Formats: sequence, C-alpha cells, structure tokens
Amino acid sequence: MYMRTEILKIIEGGLEKNRDKVQSYALLFSEKLREEGEDKFADRIKKIIDKKSVHPVYLDEFLSKPVDQDSRLDMVDVAIESNNHKKIVLPEITKVKVDNYIESLKHRSKFIELGINLPESLLLYGPPGCGKTSIAHYIAQQTQLPLVTAKLDGLVSSLLGSTAKNIRKIFEYANERPCILFLDEFDAIAKARNDEHEVGELKRVVNSLLQNIDTFNENNILIAATNHEKLLDPAVWRRFTTIVEVPKPREAEIVELIKLYLETVKYDFDKDRKKMNTLAELLLGFNASDIKTLCFNSIKKSIISEEKQLTYATVLYQIYLHKGFKEDEITLVSFLNTNGVSQSDISKILGLSRRQIRKVLDDQGE
Ligand SMILES: Nc1ncnc2c1ncn2[C@@H]1O[C@H](COP(=O)(O)OP(=O)(O)OP(=O)(O)O)[C@@H](O)[C@H]1O
Ligand SMILES: [Mg+2]
Repeated sequence: MYMRTEILKIIEGGLEKNRDKVQSYALLFSEKLREEGEDKFADRIKKIIDKKSVHPVYLDEFLSKPVDQDSRLDMVDVAIESNNHKKIVLPEITKVKVDNYIESLKHRSKFIELGINLPESLLLYGPPGCGKTSIAHYIAQQTQLPLVTAKLDGLVSSLLGSTAKNIRKIFEYANERPCILFLDEFDAIAKARNDEHEVGELKRVVNSLLQNIDTFNENNILIAATNHEKLLDPAVWRRFTTIVEVPKPREAEIVELIKLYLETVKYDFDKDRKKMNTLAELLLGFNASDIKTLCFNSIKKSIISEEKQLTYATVLYQIYLHKGFKEDEITLVSFLNTNGVSQSDISKILGLSRRQIRKVLDDQGE
C-alpha cells in the first residue's frame, strides 16, 4: 500500500477538524490512485470531495493565501512548476546532494510504510545569484509539489509584534496542503538570537520560528535559503537534516554556464578550448547570475552590431565592461590583445583602423 503520507494527512486533518487539509490531501490521494490505474476508487473519492465541498479544491485552495495582519498583503507566493525547467549548473558534489535529497522525497511514502519518519528539511546557503532559489523551484518540479514561498523580508519589516503571528500563519497554511514550504532569504528571521543590536522581540520571533519548524518538520517538507549563513543561529542549523552549500561557479562550471546561456545563438569560439578557458579564468569570482547577464548582453550587442555570429571579441568586451576596468582605449585594446583577439577583430569591434591599433600596442611595448 503506497500513499501513506496522504492517508496520514487525511487522518490528521480529520482529527484536527481541518476541512481544507482533508480535502486537499484526499484529492491528491485520488489523483495518485488514478495514476496507479485505480480509476474507480479515485472517482469515488473525488465524488465525495465534490459533494462535500463548498468550492473547488486543491489548487484553488492555494488562492486563499495567508495575509499580513497589518498590511493585508499576501505573505506567500505559490508556484506550480512546469516541466520545462531551465538547467542549473552546479559543482558535482552539490548536484549529488540535491539529487539525493530529491530521491529521498520521492521515496517518502516508502519510508513511512517501513515506520521510518525522518524529517526532510533542506538548508541551502551560499553567495547571491548562484542558484538557491532556482534549486528550490527545481525540487518542486521534480517532486510535482507546489512551492509555497514565504516572503520573509516584508514580513519582518512589518511590525515585529505581529511577526510571530505571521510566521505561525504561514506554517499553518503550508501544513494544510501538500506542498513544499520555502523560506527564502531565511536570515531575515533566523538571525542569531545573541545579536546585541537586536531587540528582545526578535529573540522571541526566532524562538517561535524554531518551534514552528519543529512541529512542521515532523510531517512536511521544508526548504530554506540564505546568503548569510554566518548570521544564522546555531539552533537553526540543527533543524535541517540536509545542508547544501551552493558556491560560486569554478572554471568548469563557468564553461558550462557560457554554453548554456549561449545555446540559442551561434558563436565563433564554441570549439576553441583555449578561448573558453580564457573566458573562464576571467570570469572566476563572478556568480552564475552575472554570467547569465554577461552572456545576454553579449548576444544583444552582437545583434545590434549585426555580427554574423557572436564573436569572442564581443564577449571579452562585455567582460571588460562588467569588470569596471578603466574606460580608456589603450587599456581596452591591450586587454583584448592579451586575451587572444586578433588585431583585425579589435579594429572591427572598436571601429579603429589597424594602424591605430598597432600604434597603441607598440606604445604599450607589445
Ligand atoms: N547554478 C546556476 N546555473 C544556471 N543558472 C543560474 C545558476 N545560479 C543562478 N542562475 C541564474 O541566475 C538567476 C538568479 O539565480 P537564483 O535566484 O537562483 O540565485 P540565488 O542563489 O537564489 O540568489 P539570491 O541569494 O540573490 O537569492 C536565475 O534565474 C538563473 O537564471
Ligand atoms: Mg534567491
């Protein structure tokens, strides 16, 4: 017998007199039965749900989102992921950890069947723009669960007094539905309790957060992401069963990212290992999101300049701009030249004559 998670949730919902929870899990249960070929039983469940509900269930249920007490704004976003997810480029070790986590989510019912009820909580940490939010969406897509993202930054900036209440509402909302709760920018509420600059109220907020996580963790899926892992309270770390670092791309990943973000266009250096390696070296220290922007800017520039295909020189030029080097021709010409752009290409891209270029390089002692 599969689908034990759903059955447990339905029982829980019944005992808690939580109609929403019973309905949404019963519907999920019937959908899973249908996938298993048990159409008759699925129809029967669906009929009961339809008869007893006042309004359509499951996805529509997500429309009744929890709102902030004071501002009346939604405190969560709900995303149902489509199947065409953009590839995420990660170091092998990170990829393996994420895949293992997904596998354990997919086999959750089996674990419960064997009486093993391990919490499945994931903490993603690392510098901005390296893929934390993207990974959470990818996991939701792989497990076919809606991703409920809590808007934490807004939540804390609202009156602290109601923050604890807001947090509870978010957890309750997620607990009533089959979903993954995603606490993005997690540090906004999980700041160390002993931070001297923070008022006592924040300590209470963190405590209430910890309690909510504990109760929630027993039966639900929680993912959190932060750029500031050092700010996290050690007690928060302990709550996560899987902790994954999402670091900046190294040279191998940079090459993969360039290929990913240039995949829709033709470019003149795709088979040139040396040029690719030069780009990777120059982009070391950039995050994946910067590399994406850089690739897109290069494509734009190439189209505007009516290049037949995107040239290595155009990409280098964009890197030069991104790095914020001095805006003078001499430095730029010598940058392009040192990194393997021919004099004729430099002259094309900068609109200078070959003679001018040679002169600059001669003056530089090249
Ligand atoms: N590892 C990656 N592989 C491919 N694309 C990436 C990767 N990381 C980031 N990107 C691109 O950069 C954009 C921003 O990434 P994302 O929001 O996932 O980063 P983040 O780590 O959550 O950043 P922040 O800490 O600022 O929230 C994504 O839309 C994606 O297109
Ligand atoms: Mg993010």
